[in-house]
Amino acid sequence: MGKTDKGERVLFVGKPLFDKECLVNGDDGMKRNPEIGDFVEVPIVKSTRESLYGEALAISKQSLLHDAGVNAVVASCARSLGWPVIGETLAFIACGYSSRPVTFMDKRKSLYGKAFKTNIIGTPIIISTDAEVNKVVLQNHGNTFVPAYPKSITELLGENSILSINGPHQKRLHTIIGAFFRSPHLKERITRDIEASVGLTLDSWAQLPVVHVQDEIKRMTFEVLVKLLMSISRGEDLDILKLEFEEFIKGLICIPINFPGTRLYKSLKAKERLIKIVKKVVKERQVATTERKNSPANDAVDVLLRDVSDGASSDKQSQPLDFVSGKIVEMMIPGEETMPTAMTLAVKFLSDNPVALAKLVEENMDVKRRKLESGEEYNWSDYMSLSFTQNVINETLRMANIINGVWRKALEDVEIKGYLIPKGWCVLASFISVHMDEDIYENPYQFDPWRWDRINGSANSNVCFTPFGGGQRLCPGLELSKLEIAIFLHQLVTRYSWTAEEDKIVSFPTVKMKRRLPIRVAPVERTYHISVEDH
Ligand code: HEM
Repeated sequence: MGKTDKGERVLFVGKPLFDKECLVNGDDGMKRNPEIGDFVEVPIVKSTRESLYGEALAISKQSLLHDAGVNAVVASCARSLGWPVIGETLAFIACGYSSRPVTFMDKRKSLYGKAFKTNIIGTPIIISTDAEVNKVVLQNHGNTFVPAYPKSITELLGENSILSINGPHQKRLHTIIGAFFRSPHLKERITRDIEASVGLTLDSWAQLPVVHVQDEIKRMTFEVLVKLLMSISRGEDLDILKLEFEEFIKGLICIPINFPGTRLYKSLKAKERLIKIVKKVVKERQVATTERKNSPANDAVDVLLRDVSDGASSDKQSQPLDFVSGKIVEMMIPGEETMPTAMTLAVKFLSDNPVALAKLVEENMDVKRRKLESGEEYNWSDYMSLSFTQNVINETLRMANIINGVWRKALEDVEIKGYLIPKGWCVLASFISVHMDEDIYENPYQFDPWRWDRINGSANSNVCFTPFGGGQRLCPGLELSKLEIAIFLHQLVTRYSWTAEEDKIVSFPTVKMKRRLPIRVAPVERTYHISVEDH
């Protein structure tokens, strides 16, 4: 807590930085006030509405230093929030295109502390790079934070999407979908489905001269996702669904202007067509699902239809078809892009790290041999207990940062660890900053799956590793995603070898390989000892 020279009580975000860094005119907008040497301009986040617009106040350096010990709430050094309207968007995007997108955050963190203000895409925002602050934001006790997505995303999702709603409806949906994804019946069925899809996909790769992993893997993950959500298998319906879905999600990051010809308009039209296709499936299933009420649900359509017929909400009951179809389409969004990206990046990291690849081959060949000898099928827990494979998956997710953070809006003033997030402000809980923090992960840019043997089970591992978010909105697809990646890696490394062409990871607007990761795949007869040279 600090005071202005008029005696006003104010809260500040950041840490004391009255060293030479603060007093230099830098590209971060810091400036020393030349008139009054003892004063600096302070970006201040105070608990009054007026302060939302970030006006700088003149604060006595002496009084700030005096107050610095109080509850760790202290001032940061002076800075502007960049240009009018665009703020620091250009610097943010430029870092996104570089090989180190976290530089934007790192630079500001070193100057202003682990939580700081900025302005991105026309939104004044507080970015938190602090794992504990992020944890509190994610836990969201008291429902003070609501999701805050860019306008194009909210337009496309609609007001009642699981990704945008807050409160009891979100909790209910989260619980029933999560319970279904974890159910033993689904685990058994989906393990077989994923194995079949991966097997067919890899067979086809071996026939191609060059495989662009990023594109080819999408077909497979989409097939699994649609099976999980509505039990549609390979065929014409799946192809049409995929085409419409791709058209729909092209608009997720676009200029939010909706009239004929714009990207948003085309995407909204694709969403209408998509919902029509899904509605047909849901309608056909309506009667069958009610009749099979006491047997386990086969897919998300079953789960939602049963919930609608049991539910108390009149909205859901009056228009169950619209409700269920809408939810299915919304649930396709978080799984569609994330899964193929995770798998593509796993292939990339393994191609660049032959020692890790050799260890992965060894572990997976061991289990394959045991299964062949016993004649048993693999089950869910066989894949999940491959410890090095799970290390590879964790390390891939840590370095890939597919969802680099989540955006929330504070419904009231919230103070966390001495940082104040004022009512109405957006906060970006930056996962990438934590995942690439060298104080938490030694050599964060090194792909080191072995580090997870040291980290797993440590007190902080949940707080400092959040690729699937956390708290109330922890990704319900978490275990399923790890299973799918594990099955893919298992079949890839036990049946094939590959060589990858040079390619680069791009992080903006979403994580991608610049050249879609071209590789050449060849079948191999693996026997006992696998050496690194095989790859
Ligand atoms: C590697 C793959 C994946 C990653 C990295 C990932 C990441 C995330 C993250 C970070 C969130 C939290 C968003 C927030 O707090 O606002 C989330 C939510 C969600 N994810 Fe995933 N996800 C993945 C795969 C999947 C899959 C396969 C599905 C299956 C349909 C799925 C379904 C969902 C749903 C429905 C939510 C919203 C939960 C809610 O708000 O209650 N995700 N995911």
